[in-house]
Amino acid sequence: MKEVVVKRIDEVAIIKRIAELAEQINSDYGDKKLHLACVLKGGVYFACELSKHLTMPVTIDFMSLSSYGDGMTSQGVIRMDQDLTMNIAGKDVLLVEDIIDSGRTLFYVENMLNKREPNSLTVCTLLDKKARREADVEIKYVGFEIEDYFAVGYGLDYAQKYRNLPYVGELQFKED
Ligand code: IMP
Ligand code: MG
Repeated sequence: MKEVVVKRIDEVAIIKRIAELAEQINSDYGDKKLHLACVLKGGVYFACELSKHLTMPVTIDFMSLSSYGDGMTSQGVIRMDQDLTMNIAGKDVLLVEDIIDSGRTLFYVENMLNKREPNSLTVCTLLDKKARREADVEIKYVGFEIEDYFAVGYGLDYAQKYRNLPYVGELQFKED
């Protein structure tokens, strides 16, 4: 089988939408300090672009989780591969994700981070596959709601490939 990526959201639309999200965040937080907690690796392209449009004092930290292994369906087990390096107690934290699918990863991370007593914990995701939601999670900032297709590019991978595509595409498998 040959892998084919069909473009779904182009780079210009992504950058424009991220700037809009940032404007919304700027207006919601004003000049309060904001701490971005970015979920590696997928969220990194989004977090970097978003942070460039934020006007309040921003700090940024990264954590790495895995739920998917190399496949396309969730394994249902979430593992923390690398924790944040900074303390979040008392901070206004914006959790930055690439995509929310079942919401199980987010549910796990939110529970874990809330125990560290941030002043607030809010979620921002580039993509939302809302139709597949299983966990009860609240997402305040959504870049694009997408249908149920396997998305790659702009940070999202399939077996660690395609993260560097500047657009979001649908991964399809074709006969050779
Ligand atoms: P959830 O726990 O089912 O919400 O899955 C969340 C994680 O699975 C995301 O952070 C991604 O790493 C991965 N994932 C879910 N859907 C896709 C997709 O369409 N493309 C690439 N990765 C995905
Ligand atoms: Mg992820």
